[in-house]
Parts: sequence; structure tokens; C-alpha cells
Amino acid sequence: QPHFHYANGQLHAEQVALEPLARQLDTPLYVYSRAALQAAWTRYQDAIAGRDVLVCYGMKANSNLAVLAEFARLGSGFDIVSGGELARVLAAGGDPARIVFSGVGKKVWEIEAALTAGIKCFNAESDAELERLSAVATRTGQTARVSLRVNPDVDAQTHPYISTGLRDNKFGIAIERAREVYRHAVSLPGLEVVGLDCHIGSQIESVAPYLDALDKLLDLIDALETDGVQLHHLDLGGGLGIRYEDETALPPQALLDGVFERLQQRGRSHLQLVLEPGRSLVGNAGVLLTEVQYLKPTEARNFAIIDAAMNDLIRPALYQAWHGVLPVTPRQDEPAQTWDLVGPVCESGDWLARQRVLAIRQGDLLAIESAGAYAMAMACNYNSRNRPAEVMVDGADFHIIRRRETLEDQLRGESILP
Ligand code: LLP
Repeated sequence: QPHFHYANGQLHAEQVALEPLARQLDTPLYVYSRAALQAAWTRYQDAIAGRDVLVCYGMKANSNLAVLAEFARLGSGFDIVSGGELARVLAAGGDPARIVFSGVGKKVWEIEAALTAGIKCFNAESDAELERLSAVATRTGQTARVSLRVNPDVDAQTHPYISTGLRDNKFGIAIERAREVYRHAVSLPGLEVVGLDCHIGSQIESVAPYLDALDKLLDLIDALETDGVQLHHLDLGGGLGIRYEDETALPPQALLDGVFERLQQRGRSHLQLVLEPGRSLVGNAGVLLTEVQYLKPTEARNFAIIDAAMNDLIRPALYQAWHGVLPVTPRQDEPAQTWDLVGPVCESGDWLARQRVLAIRQGDLLAIESAGAYAMAMACNYNSRNRPAEVMVDGADFHIIRRRETLEDQLRGESILP
């Protein structure tokens, strides 16, 4: 994570030392680097090199308003999956004309809100959803621009929980049926068919599955053309992998070079390309700071009990995900030992890292790496724990972009029977 580095024996985010920051604001604490967000955005823009590509940030990865506002300022679009995400984009000053709305379960109020906002496109995931989109648009006197999200049945070779483009997944419309569904869609009132969409998975480490999917989509586009259906954009969803441990990060350049070459070969360079990256824009732009509460060596294992838990960062518990761990102020006056970092939650699955060699004492601070994506966004209140605060570092400054949750926040909205 290039924007997190050691200087004077202390871990910094850009120019901000993390030890005093954590002591001041308490832990667990999420810290993001604005420069890291900008650098990730620039990697996409450099690869796009002026061609007609709309990057719609897959905001489910990190939906903090300050993060959204930064991407909005950079000109990003947004891939949303709920009315809540729509409200966040609008609150952050995002451009509704650059919003695409994915997801299998859009409710009527969510469709109404998105139509009123004037979003770019609904990525419809079923026949039944098309009927609902048509009905709501007709009733409200509006036009819903739609793409069909087709399921291209390609194996993105990623974790089964985050692979989305296989026949067995709940997402999308089977590609074999897409032509007939398009034919029906163009006949429905209130709809304007504008694009084609797919999403094949997340944390993808090679270009091949994208090109497999693209080939299938281009065959479909050829078939649709004979049916008289002209499309304006192609949304090639599927998230580029980042480096957590020893994975090879897939750079946007590699993907886009491959995609542009294929589009050109197939005579489809005029299509606008839409991408929906989440993790690769934010994943390595954040760390989670935590304090060692107790050291508990046992016969079987050495446990370091930290004040961050699965409710704050669920990826290890849910996917056996590996996150790097760095001492915030490394010490030489303690022998290194092998530790399991576990949280206070009452579940054996509540660990954030296992078998890590660290020289630590009670009270030390640790940084859990690659905590910018699917981290705070998936946090919950299990065990009635307040969710962490979030900070954005900007050069030598920092801003609290979400205050720590309080016990009053947690109890708000609940009531006891009279
Ligand atoms: N668009 C759609 C329709 C998606 O389903 C996703 C992610 C994205 C965009 C963003 O994909 P990305 O660039 O982040 O790979 N919680 C899991 C990841 C779940 C991804 C779900 N869909 C994790 O922590 O690894």
C-alpha cells in the first residue's frame, strides 16, 4: 500500500503519523488516504486515454460520503444496488446521469426514486423486473433506460461467494435467453433499451475471463442487430483483483488494452464502454487501526486479543480472507512470536489474522491492511458493538469523515412494550 509507509520508526498515512492519530481518536479506527483514491482513479483514466469509457464506481465497496464525493469530484459515475446507495450518491453531489442501477431485487420505491433522479440506466436482471420497470415508468409518465444484465456463464476463477457470472448464480438473465428477452423488452411501454451488461465476479486476477465474457456479449450484439435492436453501451462488470498477500493485481491498462483490441476486431469500437470497479479503486486506500487489549498465550496457540472484531471487518470470518498486519510503531525490545489476532466477539470465527509473526505487547497498535473495500461497508453491530470511526488523510491533514458510533445511536429507534 504505497500511501502507507514508515517514517521515523512510525507508520504513516501520507504525512500523518498513525500512532498519535489512533491515541487521539481511539480504536478501532478506519484510516483512508485521499492520494491513494486519486492514484487508483488515475490508473483507470490513464488506461482509458480519452476513449469513451464511463467508470461507475461500485460503491458497495465503500460508501462513505467523503469517498463518494471525492470520486464525484473526479468525474466518476456510480454503480448502485439500492435506494440507499442512490440517496448517498445524490447527497455526495454525484451526477445522476452517470448512475447505473444493478441488483436482482429492485423495489417499486427504489425504481421510482431512480427514475425521478434521472439515472443513466437500470441493469435489469429478470423478466419480472422488466415488467415492473415498464409499469412504474408508464404510471409515472417517465422513460426507464434499460440494459439487460446477462449471465455469460464464465468462470472468473475467484472465491465462490464472489463469483457472479456462473449459471448457478442468482444474477442476470441466461445468455441463451437474452435475445428473446430483448425482443420482448423493446415492445414494452415506458422502456428505452440502451445497453447490455454483465458482471462475472470480483477479485479477478486475469484478463481471460473478461474476454470470454466479451466474446459472448459481442455475439449477442451481432444477433440483436439482425433483430433491429441497436445498443449504445456495453457494461463489462467484474472487479479487478488487488494485492492482499501475494496475488498479482490486475492493472486497468491490461484489461482495457485487451478489451479495446477485441472491440476493434469485431467492429464495435463505437460502443460506449462502462466499467463498475469497486475494490480496485478503494481496497488498498485504507487500513484498520486496532489496539492489543490482552496477550493470551495458551498451550495450543498464542492469542492476541485486539479491539477490532468480525463486526468491524468480516472478510476473514466470511471468506477466510487474508489481510496484512503491520505494527504501527515496531518495537525491537520484544522477541517476535507467532500470534492469532482475535476480536472480542463471542464466535470462534472472530479472527482477523492467524499465525502472524509479530513483536507485540499489550497496548500496542496494529494496522490491518487493505481495509478500504468491503470493510466498514460490511460492518455491523453484532454483540452491540459501536461501529468504528473513519478518517480521511489528505497530505499532512486529516478529517473525521464518520464519527464513532455511540451507544445512543445504537439504541435509537428501538422501544420497549408499554
Ligand atoms: N458491480 C456489481 C454488479 C457487483 O456485484 C460488484 C461486486 C461490483 C460492481 C464491484 O466489484 P469489485 O470491483 O469490487 O470487484 N464482499 C466481497 C466482494 C463482493 C463483491 C460483490 N459485487 C469481498 O469482500 O470480497
